[in-house]
Amino acid sequence: MKFENLHFPEAPIITGNIPGKKAQKILTKQERIEGKAVSYPKAIPLVLDEGRGATLKDSDGNIFIDFFAGAGVVALGYNNPIILKAVEEQLHKITHTLDFPTEVRITLVERIREILPGKLKNNMKVQFGGPTGSDAVEMALKFVKILTQRRSFISFEGAYHGMTSGALSLTSGRFWKEQFTPLLPDIHFLPYAYCFRCPFNREFKNCGMICAQYYNRKLTDPHSGIVQPAGTIIEPIQGEGGSIIPPEGFVKEIENISRQYDIPLIFDEIQSGFNRTGKFFSFEHDKAIPDIITMSKAIGGGFPLSAIAYRDDLDKKNKWTKGAHIGTFRGNVTAMAAGVATIDFMIENDLSTYVTTLGQYMLQCLKKIEKSSAIIGEVRGKGLMIGLEIVTDKETNNPSEELAKLIRLETFNRGVILELGGHYNNVLRILPPLIITKDLVDKGIDILKSAIESIEYSK
Ligand SMILES: Cc1ncc(COP(=O)(O)O)c(C=O)c1O
Repeated sequence: MKFENLHFPEAPIITGNIPGKKAQKILTKQERIEGKAVSYPKAIPLVLDEGRGATLKDSDGNIFIDFFAGAGVVALGYNNPIILKAVEEQLHKITHTLDFPTEVRITLVERIREILPGKLKNNMKVQFGGPTGSDAVEMALKFVKILTQRRSFISFEGAYHGMTSGALSLTSGRFWKEQFTPLLPDIHFLPYAYCFRCPFNREFKNCGMICAQYYNRKLTDPHSGIVQPAGTIIEPIQGEGGSIIPPEGFVKEIENISRQYDIPLIFDEIQSGFNRTGKFFSFEHDKAIPDIITMSKAIGGGFPLSAIAYRDDLDKKNKWTKGAHIGTFRGNVTAMAAGVATIDFMIENDLSTYVTTLGQYMLQCLKKIEKSSAIIGEVRGKGLMIGLEIVTDKETNNPSEELAKLIRLETFNRGVILELGGHYNNVLRILPPLIITKDLVDKGIDILKSAIESIEYSK
C-alpha cells in the first residue's frame, strides 16, 4: 500500500489563532460540564474533527501533523481503509460476544501466537480481559500471584503501568499516587537503566551495568528488605518514563537474574509493542524472553482491546482456572477484527523495516538539532518511539519542564502535535502513527526545530 495516500495531503494548515472560534466554544463547554480530571485539552487546546493517517483536522479546519498517534494507539493511522473494511464487516455481523469464540477472535489469538519470536512462537497462551492496558496489567498481576502464591512485586523507577489500583501501585509517578496511597503493599521500585541520568552517577563505559547488578543484590541480600516477589514487571523500553532506551544487555540481564531467583518476568509491551520500535515486541531487541507479556494500544487497531500472553508451560503449573479472571468486556470483537487487520497489514507491508529505517532517519535529523541546541540534553529513540530531553543548559543538564511545555505549545501552534513525559515531565515524546511518510516527518521536524529555536532565543 502507498502510505502517501493515507493522509490529508496539504498538512499542515493553520488558518488563524488556535484554538479557533468553534474549538474555543467546545473547549469551554467541556471544561464546564466534564470532570476536572480531563487533562490533554488543558495542555493542547485541540478539538478533533477528523483524522487521516498521520494527520488530524480540528473543528476549525486546521490540519496538524500527528507525532502522538493517540498515545501510541493508532499505529496504522486514522481511517486506514484496511481497518475500516475489517471493522465495517464485523459491525454488520456481531459486536459483543463475551468470551464465546468467534472466527475472528480465534484468528487474532493465532496471529498473536505466530508473531511471537523464537521459542515463544506458538508457545504462549493468550487471555483477553477488560479493554484497557491497565486491565491487562491487573490480569498479569493476578496470574503471577496465583502462580507463585507470593504477593510482593518489583517494578522500576520511571515505570508507567496504568491507573487502576494494582497497575498504579506499580507505576512510579508520585503525582498520580500521593493522594491515593496506600495501594498494593510490598511494591519495590528499583533503578532502570536511565543512562542520561544514571541513578548511580556512573558513565556507561565502566559502570558494569550496575543497575542490573543492584536488582541482583536486592534479591541476594537477605537484609535487602524484599521478600521473594510474585513477579517483576518491566517495560523493555520505557514510554511515559521518557522514551528511555536501556543499553543493550540490560533487559536480558534482568531476565537472567529473574530466572536465577525463580521470579516470573512480565514485559509490559502495551506501548512499545506491535512494531512501535521496529519489532513486534521491544524485548526482541535484547533477545530477552518473558514469562508474561501485556499488550494493548496498537493491538486493537484504534479500538479498545488488551490481552496478556503467558508461556504455555505456566498453564500446567497454575491454578488459573475457569473464571479466574472475568468481566463483561472480555475482548471486543470489533477491536479484534481491527487487530487481525493490523497484524496482517504490518506483515504484508514489512512495517518492521519501514519503522526501523524511518526511525533511524528521524533520530539522525533530531540529533543534528540536539547538537546546535543549548536546551536539548539528549535525543534518544528506537524505531518511532523517540524522546528529546529538554534541559535548562547543557552544563548542568537540569530538567526543564517549563521549556518543554513552551516548546510543545509552540509546536502545536505551528501545526504539529506531540506530548510530554519523563521523570520531570521534560521529555518531548515523538510517537507518530507508523505509516507516517518521510515527507511528513521532514515537515514535522522542521516545525519542531523552528519552535525549539524560537523558545530558545526568547529564553
Ligand atoms: C507501558 C504502559 N503500560 C500500561 C499502560 C496503561 O494503559 P491504559 O492507559 O490503556 O490503561 C500504558 C499507557 O500509557 C503504558 O504506556
